[in-house]
Amino acid sequence: FTKDVCDAARIPTARWERFDSMAPALEFVRRRGAPIVIKADGLAAGKGVVVAMTETEAEDAIRAMMDDASLGDAGRSVVIEECLVGDEVSLFAFCAGETAVLIGAAQDHKRIGEGDTGPNTGGMGAVSPPTGFDRARQEAALDVLVRPMLDEMVRRGTPFRGVIFAGLMLTDDGPKLIEYNVRFGDPEAQALLIRLESDLLPALASVADGTLDTTDIRFSDDHSISIVLAARGYPGKPVAGGVIDGIAEANHLPGVHVFHAGTRQDAEGRIVAAGGRVLTVCATGTTLAEARSRAYHGVAAIRWDDAIWRRDIGERALRAEA
Ligand code: GLY
Repeated sequence: FTKDVCDAARIPTARWERFDSMAPALEFVRRRGAPIVIKADGLAAGKGVVVAMTETEAEDAIRAMMDDASLGDAGRSVVIEECLVGDEVSLFAFCAGETAVLIGAAQDHKRIGEGDTGPNTGGMGAVSPPTGFDRARQEAALDVLVRPMLDEMVRRGTPFRGVIFAGLMLTDDGPKLIEYNVRFGDPEAQALLIRLESDLLPALASVADGTLDTTDIRFSDDHSISIVLAARGYPGKPVAGGVIDGIAEANHLPGVHVFHAGTRQDAEGRIVAAGGRVLTVCATGTTLAEARSRAYHGVAAIRWDDAIWRRDIGERALRAEA
């Protein structure tokens, strides 16, 4: 559906074809070669994409999805795409009908381990803005990758209202769309929203009631960062019930904000862990280096024996700046 909308709206995206049977899909892979991306056409709980580095990997993925029905009905038809190369970033906007108001951009750290190693998670930390993707470039990307989609949805008689989270690749040929999510990202939202200077509720209400174009929405030009504290065992089976102290101290540090995700209060009123990703420690600063140092001071103020977190959130962005 996304690819059809992109083509109708002339939105830059990876070249693609859809296949309902296996033989032509395998033939296409042999013609195009690897690397190549195989996607189940249906919803597959985040497991429907294989970035195949070899033709054999691609063929195995096609067979698993189409022949062995490894993803059930979701893999009955597949989309095969060109593999995009570049830096992957996320672009966020409030949208209502033809109106899009930029929220900002962020870069997630998806793997559990430092140096981008280990299994994928929901996201272990984010920086905003990504290095080299400033507000002017974000606005330009919105013009090319989001506004034409909104126009196309209006043209189809199904206007979109909500938050768009566009996953895109910054390629040598400019930004290209990978996917649209219709929600905030976690932990991208925390890094973006701590820079919101106006109120969030009127912004959300204006999306719902169609007054987005006249609503005051202002963000600071600060840099920001979010660092996830997860419970030992995540992304497998996280340890629950550990007592967490120091959140108030962290919140008192300059520029630091701590968000709860997987916490609860026990009978004695203590905060205890109750989930995989448990807290997100965020900070703003006039530079990424300042925001990062503030956020890690916030992490250090929190006392929780079962906490795991990445020590290298923002490191790659800092290297890219240098
Ligand atoms: N952090 C990625 C997501 O929310 O999908």
